Amino acid sequence: MTQYRDNFTSQEAAAKYDQDVYAEGSYSALLSELEYQLVGEGLGEAGQGRGTLDFACGTGRLTRAIPPQHHPAHGIDISSEMVERARLQDSQAEYQVLDVLNSTAVEAAALGRFDRVLAFRFILNSEPRQSLECLSALNQHFCDSQTVLLINNHGNRYSHNIVSYLLARFGIRPAGVTGNTLSHKAATQLFNQAGFEIVDRVGYGLLGGRLGMKLGPDGVSRLEKSFLGRFGSGLIGRLAGHQLYKLRQAAPNRD
Ligand SMILES: C[S@@+](CC[C@H](N)C(=O)[O-])C[C@H]1O[C@@H](n2cnc3c(N)ncnc32)[C@H](O)[C@@H]1O
Repeated sequence: MTQYRDNFTSQEAAAKYDQDVYAEGSYSALLSELEYQLVGEGLGEAGQGRGTLDFACGTGRLTRAIPPQHHPAHGIDISSEMVERARLQDSQAEYQVLDVLNSTAVEAAALGRFDRVLAFRFILNSEPRQSLECLSALNQHFCDSQTVLLINNHGNRYSHNIVSYLLARFGIRPAGVTGNTLSHKAATQLFNQAGFEIVDRVGYGLLGGRLGMKLGPDGVSRLEKSFLGRFGSGLIGRLAGHQLYKLRQAAPNRD
């Protein structure tokens, strides 16, 4: 069976990611705008000048959005096809094909430590064991207890995604329904096992693509922005399809 890590290792898959998933005007592209804002806010004040690591950076969608005060920006991914596309779209950041689970001590030391780390669109689809091993490996690239990891779950189970989750559970799979979701409880367990604690959480993406796009790009964009501004950080935000977590190393795990 194909592993998630192999899903983006063809030129077609890499192109599809940019051209289909993030096609102009698509729901994902509209949410990207919110993610740029959230990344800017979540990264906070400038760190110690060690910059930001974007783990599983893909085609550099968020690496490119890292604000200058958090540079140098460094994206790593195991897919050379994704990294190639990232390099073509961005000459500022450093992009590298690297597998944190199989990198040598020399490669890990050369990558170094960072003030901030990003990991977007990874933990939902990656196998749980692989997610845990990768997140655990990221610890060695943290500067200190002030280092922040911004990580998202783009398939929050208790949101509009509950419909596709239940359909799939009962064996009903209309086209496009994967049923792939991750609960806040499972995400929290993963973070804790990897040595992190949650310091903040924001929800965005209330409507989901199917319903949202019925409103058209302008309508959905306005509504999602307004939802994030009013409810993203509160209890209602927990019912949004995407959850962004701000993590720090848990006390016993700090250097
Ligand atoms: C859905 S893309 C997300 C890309 C980017 N973070 C974004 O939000 O647009 C997932 C990426 O994870 C990468 N990936 C999967 N398993 C990985 C692993 N074990 N180590 C590093 N990257 C991995 C894939 O190659 C792919 O580029």
